Amino acid sequence: MNDTSQIDAIMAVMQAAFDPQWGEAWNRRQVSDALALPNTFAIVNYTGDDEQKTAGFLVTRHAPGEEELLLIAVHPKYRRQGIAYQMLVQLAKDARERGASRIFLEMRENNPAAELYVKFGFEPIGRRKSYYLLSDGNRMDAITYGVSI
Ligand SMILES: CC(C)(COP(=O)(O)OP(=O)(O)OC[C@H]1O[C@@H](n2cnc3c(N)ncnc32)[C@H](O)[C@@H]1OP(=O)(O)O)[C@@H](O)C(=O)NCCC(=O)NCCS
Repeated sequence: MNDTSQIDAIMAVMQAAFDPQWGEAWNRRQVSDALALPNTFAIVNYTGDDEQKTAGFLVTRHAPGEEELLLIAVHPKYRRQGIAYQMLVQLAKDARERGASRIFLEMRENNPAAELYVKFGFEPIGRRKSYYLLSDGNRMDAITYGVSI
């Protein structure tokens, strides 16, 4: 798979997965700039059907001893089938191979994705007040989660 088709696959989920009110989706340029960095990686799940080939993706950044999950999404058509959980399992394996012992992430406080993270073993470890600027101009706290792998 070349870089362009991996980015196409990611964007096909990105556009469908994020509610625009939170302003969380990345544009194509942000994805391609991130993945051009040597320490930033994607995991893409291609278990979709002919119409929507990509079911989900995540983007992650490695730093010495730790990994930061930057973005994870599953197409609405394929939710609650364990795809995000499976990608987290793969991430933990890849991150360990890169020498990480912890995974961190930051999430807007009211995101139901918290249930996924807690199920995986993440624990809330911090709060950043008014960290996210929403598309309506309001702000929301970020919760930092961490898990040992
Ligand atoms: C969050 C998201 C990635 C979850 O993907 P998913 O493939 O549906 O998640 P999984 O099927 O692997 O969920 C595993 C478990 O996590 C929990 N979970 C996942 N989504 C949940 C939700 N919306 N509400 C409550 N619990 C949830 C459940 O315990 C679930 O197990 P169950 O289905 O047996 O009850 C998906 O809803 C999504 O793309 N959301 C929009 C993008 C987003 O907000 N991403 C996170 C911030 S970057």
